[in-house]
Amino acid sequence: MTQTNSKRTILVTTALPYANGPIHIGHLVEYIQADIWVRFQRLIGNDCTFLCADDTHGTPILIRARNEKRSPEAVITDMFQLHTHTFKNYLVSFDHYSSTNSQTNQHLCEEFYINMRDKNHTEVKQIEQTYCNHDQMFLPDRFVKGTCPVCKSENQYGDSCDVCGSTYSPTELKNPKCSLCGTPPVLKKSDHVFFKLNDFKTLLTEWVPQHTSNEISKKLNEWLKDDLRSWDISRDEPYFGFKIPGYDNKYFYVWVDAPIGYISTAKEFWASDPDKFARIWKQDQSEVYHFIGKDIVYFHCLFWPAMLTAAGYRKPTQVNVHGFLTVNGEKMSKSKGTFIEADHFYKFVDPTFLRYYYACKSSAGLDDIDLNLEDFVQRVNSDLVGKYVNLGSRSAQLLHKYTSGKMSEVISEEGLNLLLDVVKASHELQKHYEAREYAKAIQLIRSHVDHINQYFDQKSPWKTLKENPNSADALESLAVALNAFRIFTIYLSPIIPTVSDKVAALFNETAYQWPMVPAHVDAPWLKSSYFYKGALTLNPFQHLIQRLDIKNVTQVLQP
Ligand code: MSP
Ligand code: ZN
Repeated sequence: MTQTNSKRTILVTTALPYANGPIHIGHLVEYIQADIWVRFQRLIGNDCTFLCADDTHGTPILIRARNEKRSPEAVITDMFQLHTHTFKNYLVSFDHYSSTNSQTNQHLCEEFYINMRDKNHTEVKQIEQTYCNHDQMFLPDRFVKGTCPVCKSENQYGDSCDVCGSTYSPTELKNPKCSLCGTPPVLKKSDHVFFKLNDFKTLLTEWVPQHTSNEISKKLNEWLKDDLRSWDISRDEPYFGFKIPGYDNKYFYVWVDAPIGYISTAKEFWASDPDKFARIWKQDQSEVYHFIGKDIVYFHCLFWPAMLTAAGYRKPTQVNVHGFLTVNGEKMSKSKGTFIEADHFYKFVDPTFLRYYYACKSSAGLDDIDLNLEDFVQRVNSDLVGKYVNLGSRSAQLLHKYTSGKMSEVISEEGLNLLLDVVKASHELQKHYEAREYAKAIQLIRSHVDHINQYFDQKSPWKTLKENPNSADALESLAVALNAFRIFTIYLSPIIPTVSDKVAALFNETAYQWPMVPAHVDAPWLKSSYFYKGALTLNPFQHLIQRLDIKNVTQVLQP
């Protein structure tokens, strides 16, 4: 069907996952939420590109490589394979997946820095940091461990205490030790390059409320009340990253080259269409959305827009922020077995179900999302399989049994009105998807599925057909159920794309588009010609999806 508005050009990014570990089910909240939005945009006919990359730089990767006695490059190459494989398994439909450790990214970082420097937005200051004489390196806060200065708990990180929640600097820690070798660190001075964030205070104060949710904007306003401190963008050797032009032994802090990875990935993707790249990232003639978690808001809503402005690039249209995943009501934890890797989870659960469950729980807000394993099995089995899938599989199988798949020639007024109701939900559903209110979308679909199931049960065609295999009324009810099922499938297809593909094959169709534009819902042609009737013979029914078994699902908690 045609789209009434003109086609939008949209770029969507998700946060670039760190290359120092595998993807876990917490990460997947974001990648699935964004993928649903992207698939929805494509479904309604927009030009939507979905990009991501591995975030490869920083001290943790260097240390990991050291421990594994190989190069950081070898570590990130393996992780790249692992990550891209996982995303494929979970049907995350990136158009291009790159790495921040690329030449394109390095050149862009240099371009950004030179602009920042030449426009006088940088300054060099000497600072004092913890340094390990044994490892011969400056230690990031997380690499210093010691006793919390507030509650005296032992073995706490240099930036915050897990027990009492206090935050402090590593120099305040009692009895500090290098977490790598146990040597007490010393303090050492060195020059660092700072980005003068306060130069952008006025701009940010105006930009933030227009491009983030009220919730986020309120939080950031607390920061924007005071002057913004300059941001340390350099790191000393040894470091895994890009060298800063003009210095022999200073590197860009990983949080500088990571967001620039959004642009370098786009530049690679549109290498053969540089005009399009420029329209998107330079000229603000399109929409750019970043999907991120609530832990990295400052980077994306303060530092990043300031950097983009300094370097002469456009700023994102909106930064969409989600909450964190909890498992059975608690923070994911290694000791409780709830820190579940995506590839492990995949061994026991069809990814379609996780996509469906996360969608059931997703809103546009910052609330955390809980994966409760019992509720998960219950929702999937009773709603998705019990109501939606069963409606389709029962009616398709009955149709094959009694008419070899040929649909009723007639759909009565009653049936058409029921279907029209389903179609009319299209407009509201589009609004929910667009607003990332997937829980609301699913609720609305579910209420319509319930309604059609009531009709189907009341007609009970399986009983009638047993006695009278030619019952027009019973065959009509199958046509109504199948037409409704087909529209439900289109509505759900951003969430459950592989099921949607199987249903399309059943109806002898290729990839689905959104069924119809709201403006057309009342069009007179709709009643007579939109729905499938005798013209269609269903293809053989293919099993759609297997119910979940709680015994399998609880195995995800075992290592
Ligand atoms: N590398 C940075 C992002 C750089 S973007 C220029 C990073 N990586 S991450 O691997 O730690 O996280 C990637 C995304 O997953 C982030 O948006 C983060 O908020 C999200 N999540 C990580 N753990 C999560 C949960 N437990 N729950 C929900 N989202 C989580 O941050
Ligand atoms: Zn050390």
